[in-house]
Amino acid sequence: MAHLKPVTKVSDKLRGMLNDAIAREIAVSIQYMWQHVQVIGVKGVAVQGQFKQTAIVEMKHAESIAERLWYLEGTPTTKPTPITVGDSLKEFLEHDVKAEEDAILLYKQIIKQAQDEGDITTAFMFKEILEDEEEHHDLFTTMLEEV
Ligand SMILES: [Fe+2]
Ligand SMILES: [Fe+2]
Repeated sequence: MAHLKPVTKVSDKLRGMLNDAIAREIAVSIQYMWQHVQVIGVKGVAVQGQFKQTAIVEMKHAESIAERLWYLEGTPTTKPTPITVGDSLKEFLEHDVKAEEDAILLYKQIIKQAQDEGDITTAFMFKEILEDEEEHHDLFTTMLEEV
C-alpha cells in the first residue's frame, strides 16, 4: 500500500526515534509475555497476570506508534531491541525496571523532539504512553521490593 501524504512533516531523526520506540515496545512485549510463561513458585503465581497484562499494553503501544510512523511516511521496524527475560522473579523484575526506565528517558526525548517539530499529535500520543510506562515502572519497582 502506498503512503497517504501526511499533513504533518517530520524529520528523519524523529522517524528514527519512533522506530527505536517500536523496537523496544516489541522487545518488552515479548519479554513480559515470556516472563508470564516462565514464572514459577508461590510468589510467581501471585504476579503472573501482571506480566501478561503489561505485555498486552506494550503490544498496543507498538501498534499505535507504528500507525503514527506509517502516517508520517516511515516504515515500522520488525526488529526488537535485545530481550532480557532473566532466570528468577528477582532477575525478571530487575530487567523490567531497567526497561521501563529506558522507555521513560526515550519517550521524554521523543515528546521534546516532536514538540520542536510542531508535531503535536506525536507529542500528545507519547505523553499518554509515558503515563503507562511510569505506571509500569511503579508496578515493577513495588513488586521488586516484595521479592
Ligand atoms: Fe510501552
Ligand atoms: Fe512499559
